[in-house]
Amino acid sequence: MKKYILLREEEIDRMSEDEQIEYYGRDILDSLNFQSSDENIQHGTVSVKEHSLDVARASIRISRFFHMRKKRRELIRGALLHDFFLYDWHIPAEEGEERKLHGFYHPGVALRNARKEFELSALEQDIIKKHMWPLTVIPPRYKESWVVTAADKYCSLRETLHLRKGRFEEKIKEIKEHGEGKKKP
Ligand SMILES: [Fe+2]
Ligand SMILES: [Fe+2]
Repeated sequence: MKKYILLREEEIDRMSEDEQIEYYGRDILDSLNFQSSDENIQHGTVSVKEHSLDVARASIRISRFFHMRKKRRELIRGALLHDFFLYDWHIPAEEGEERKLHGFYHPGVALRNARKEFELSALEQDIIKKHMWPLTVIPPRYKESWVVTAADKYCSLRETLHLRKGRFEEKIKEIKEHGEGKKKP
């Protein structure tokens, strides 16, 4: 693993989006729960893990555009964890589960899960809690929360319109060609 110790904000800003994500979010990327979100579909054929990484990349791009360097660490970590709800919201919920109104409840579920596993700053919590604004009536409190909210909507739209192909694309293609349960010859 590359070590990026004691780099200045300007140096970090010059790193690629993925390098910045690794620099600030290595422990999140390594988390088994985060890894498992690759099994849950977000929109179209894109997994929740892919979506979260895309939102982190888009958030970096937006923050660069506005010369926002200061809170880059929290911005990235909040973006990676904003959908840390850890279930497939397309599968009908058991009775009484909050999944029925996924759009309204998942920020709270994500925040609960993320708090169990990581130490979160007030800003990171705000990013997770408010990313569904205007569904979450109270608007985001910090600039960085607005950035993730915008990045999330942009990525979700691309996924919904199938402008972004995900890892399930190949799986679906294989099923169409060879039938479910059958391995590729
Ligand atoms: Fe979300
Ligand atoms: Fe999202």
